[in-house]
Amino acid sequence: MAQQIEKVGVLGAGLMGHGIAQVAAQAGYEVVLREVDEATLAKGVGKIEKQLARAVEKGKSSQQDADAVRGRIKETIHYRDLADCDLVIEAITENLALKLEMWKEIDEIVKPEAVFATNTSSLAVIDQAAVTGRPGQFVGLHYFNPAQVMKLVEVVRCVTTGDEAFDTALEFARSEGKLAIPTKDKAGFIVNRLLVPYMLDAIRAYEEGVGSVGEIDEAMKAGAGHPMGPLTLADFVGLDTLGSICDVLFEEFRERRFARPPLLRKILSAGWFGRKTGIGFYDYSGESPVENPGI
Ligand code: CAA
Repeated sequence: MAQQIEKVGVLGAGLMGHGIAQVAAQAGYEVVLREVDEATLAKGVGKIEKQLARAVEKGKSSQQDADAVRGRIKETIHYRDLADCDLVIEAITENLALKLEMWKEIDEIVKPEAVFATNTSSLAVIDQAAVTGRPGQFVGLHYFNPAQVMKLVEVVRCVTTGDEAFDTALEFARSEGKLAIPTKDKAGFIVNRLLVPYMLDAIRAYEEGVGSVGEIDEAMKAGAGHPMGPLTLADFVGLDTLGSICDVLFEEFRERRFARPPLLRKILSAGWFGRKTGIGFYDYSGESPVENPGI
């Protein structure tokens, strides 16, 4: 039996967190969105407001509905505002130590019957569940970027997850209009286990001179029907995030297909994280992206 969810806490208003918060508010939930400081919070909320305004402009939403969605999102920099949430979803950076520290604090504050979920892309869900006093009420809820658009949510059951929490998470994702696919707590789950080696292979193909950045992308779009080529997708996911995910997968499986290609390591050393920094495989500073001449 699934638990009743009315109020949802979202930790992190970055690339994933702002989208997760917007989707929950659009589904009618009260949302508390928490960030570390006011500036980062305002940036995330600004993105939500921009998406809502765009939906009104396009005639996909009325101004009244957009205002109602915005009104359901309360922003905060304090954990204490999440105390009466029924579900808390974390979407902070992909760093286990930071996540563990955060869960320990949250666990003390949020009501004991609430379900906790991590949006991790690759870290083991059990490692996070185990530091809370509620490992039976802990799941993975893995959204895809952009969360407002992508249909899938992977719902991850770890070894301690109880049936009620798992059903609650499945029902919650479905109530947002998502396709909820249950999966086990194996690094990368379903999608990243397949998608990450694909993006890494595209980087290796470029390193080996198979094609230019643009040619590899255009080939995969036109030849395999993908909406974005693999290097555009890597920039879109964030090259720092891709680097963290492949490190976790490599550490777990020790297989070459998950290893960081040398070029990715160099791009990251340069501070080129893709779209979020305006430069990655492409330079986004102009009107339309051009291949990064430094690569
Ligand atoms: N937020 C909200 N809506 C957005 C959006 C965003 N960030 N980006 C695009 N959209 C909406 C647009 O408003 C548009 O809506 P309408 O159809 O209602 O007008 C729709 O999405 C299509 O957008 P565009 O016409 O601008 O562009 P597009 O057709 O090229 O689609 C895309 C953009 C949906 C991102 C598409 O290119 C795509 O599906 N790309 C692949 C994305 C993908 O693979 N994501 C998964 C990444 S892996 C991951 O996230 C997991 C992980 O752990 C790393």
